[in-house]
Amino acid sequence: MEAQYQKLCNRSDIEDNQTIVVEIDEKNILVTKINGEFYAVENNCTHENLPLNGGEVHNGQIQCPHHGARFDIKTGKATQFPAVMELKTYKVKIENDNVMAAI
Ligand code: FES
Repeated sequence: MEAQYQKLCNRSDIEDNQTIVVEIDEKNILVTKINGEFYAVENNCTHENLPLNGGEVHNGQIQCPHHGARFDIKTGKATQFPAVMELKTYKVKIENDNVMAAI
């Protein structure tokens, strides 16, 4: 099925380096903002499939709160052990005040 853009939140809902979790179509999506740009990734660490929310965002990366793996928010690449597989990322666009992602 082709991805459709769906609303995640309003632009004003997140400050830089904060995260929120949104559930859309039974997918758990973590939304964050880095230097004013919004990003959306699957809220599911590829190490042991545990949620990433609660992890700190720093220098464009999120650190998993469980065992410390890190992921590049923009690319989804795992940048620190124990995760090795990429995180799923979603394309984001802004429409008016809405943060939208292709789900
Ligand atoms: S579940 Fe994220 S590092 Fe283990």
